[in-house]
Parts: sequence; C-alpha cells; structure tokens
Amino acid sequence: MRILITGAQGQLGHALQQALAGEDLILKDLPEFDLTQSGSESQIVAARPSVILHIGAYTNVDGAEREPDRALAVNAQGTTFVARAAATLNARLIYLSTDYVFDGTKSSPYREEDVPHPINVYGQSKREGEIAALTDCPNTLVVRTAWLYGHAGNNFVKTIMRLAGEKPFLEVVGDQRGCPTNADDLALVLNDLLTSELRGICHVTNTGDCTWHEFAEAIVIRMGLSTPVRPITTAQAGRLASRPAYSVLAQERLPIVRDPLPHWQDALARFMRHAPRLASTSN
Ligand SMILES: NC(=O)c1ccc[n+]([C@@H]2O[C@H](COP(=O)([O-])OP(=O)(O)OC[C@H]3O[C@@H](n4cnc5c(N)ncnc54)[C@H](OP(=O)(O)O)[C@@H]3O)[C@@H](O)[C@H]2O)c1
Repeated sequence: MRILITGAQGQLGHALQQALAGEDLILKDLPEFDLTQSGSESQIVAARPSVILHIGAYTNVDGAEREPDRALAVNAQGTTFVARAAATLNARLIYLSTDYVFDGTKSSPYREEDVPHPINVYGQSKREGEIAALTDCPNTLVVRTAWLYGHAGNNFVKTIMRLAGEKPFLEVVGDQRGCPTNADDLALVLNDLLTSELRGICHVTNTGDCTWHEFAEAIVIRMGLSTPVRPITTAQAGRLASRPAYSVLAQERLPIVRDPLPHWQDALARFMRHAPRLASTSN
C-alpha cells in the first residue's frame, strides 16, 4: 500500500512514521510541499498513493486569530487541493480534524453527528477543511481527535514537565474539559482505519476526560514532584482565541473497526516512561 502523509514532520507525523514503518510511505511537508500552493495537488497526483493521510495543518490556535487568512489557506483551501488529488487518484483520504469544531456548550460528549459550531478561527478553518474533504473526495474519513501530544514537537505534556521542574507553582486552566490523546495510540488507530470501509466522520481519542488542570496535576504527580498546580479560569488565562469549555468526544463509530483506546492516564504513563528523552528536547 502506497501511503502519502502530509505534515509528516509534525508530532502525529512522527508517530505515524513509526506505526507505519514497513509500508511504502511518501512523506510531504514544508518547505518542498506547501498546502497553500495549488501545485500541492499535482505533487500528490504525481506520487500516486492509494491512501492519503492528510494531517498537515496550521495548528497554532492563538496564532490563527492573528493570521486568519493563512490558517484558512492551509487548513481549508489546502484540504481542497488534497481532496481533489485524492478524487483524481480514486484514493482513500483520511483527514485529521479537531474537537475545536464544537462550541463547547454541551455537557455530554459530542457525537459524530452533532452540528459543529466553531468559536475560533482554527476551529472554523478545520471545519471548512472537513467540508472540503467530504465534498471533494468520495472515499473520505474525517478523524476528529483532541489534546494531542507526541514525542516530536511541542505540546502541553512537555511544557508542564519542563515548568514543573523550574517554577515554584503552576497555574493551569481548570474550566475546559477534553480528552488528552497520545499520538502513538492515535497512529495505531489510523493504521487500522486505512483499510477499513468507514467513511464520513469518526471520533478518536484516548478514553476518559479531564480538565487541563487535572491533566497537569497528573503529569506533575507522575514526575514525582510536589509542585503545586493551581486552577485558574479561562478568563484569567487571557488567551487570544476562545476555546470550548467542554469538548469531550463520544466515540460511537470507532467500535465498528476496533476496540477503544486505553484511558488517558494509562497513555500518559506510557508516554512519560520516555521522560529522559524529553529532557534533551527544547520546547
Ligand atoms: N495538536 C493537537 O492538539 C490537535 C488536536 C486535534 C486535532 N489536531 C489535528 O491533528 C493533525 C496533526 O496535528 P499535530 O499536532 O501533529 O500538528 P503539528 O505538529 O503542528 O504538525 C503539522 C505539520 O503540518 C505542517 N504544515 C504547516 N503548514 C503547512 C503548509 N502550508 N504546507 C504543508 N505543511 C504544513 C507543519 O509544518 P511547520 O511545523 O513547519 O509549520 C507540521 O509539520 C492536524 O491536522 C491538527 O489539526 C491536532
């Protein structure tokens, strides 16, 4: 199977390269492959993959508020190029999307069929990407995930691990609830989804949910530190982009293909066993 991965140098891209080792992989990323350029479509067609894992994206949630045109160009227009190429090749397209397509006003897990209503530019751009993928390529699966962390790149887990050793105390948002997801675990699911018949939308996260504050506390405890972690409100955090207060994803379609992923606490423990590797990683 010839599999093309966009955004191959990002954190999920690295996890996928490991999970799919042994497959015929075509890795695409900046600067040679730019989703804002229409030439990205012909580059994909020329590579002739039978499956496209489209994970390349503008992922800086606050940055997207500052440069909405770029976020939309990468995540929405860029996905149109990818989906057209997939349709031309009759290829399967798997597009990675986000819990941030929802507004967070529900108090029970968001189902695949719930109507998205993004409250920030990043979420809007990813929702437009979803529509482009589903409209322009008949064999599309949109995989929504959340609160992702992996060994490559920067993420919440690495940041808390660094700060917990440096600061006398930490302040972390306690009024946003979601599903932390280990990129290695997600990559294994994507491997199963490549060859499945599933189309439309599928939610995939580690099971269980928590607030960012609870997530940070779990990280500090696993480090064996006693650094206090104090909850603050979203308003106190003063971030540029609005974020959903509740973005837990119900996973009603994944059981058609495979068992659910382990609990987020278990996934975090596995990730943190590689803590010495993180110590030399700047973030
Ligand atoms: N991170 C999360 O918490 C999260 C949550 C839910 C869903 N997702 C989705 O999951 C997917 C993977 O996320 P991730 O955390 O692995 O993201 P990431 O680490 O930011 O990786 C994204 C990759 O896309 C590349 N990229 C950016 N602009 C591009 C362009 N114009 N053309 C081609 N490539 C471009 C990035 O390159 P540069 O680094 O050089 O910009 C990077 O290598 C994304 O689609 C994201 O929207 C992520």
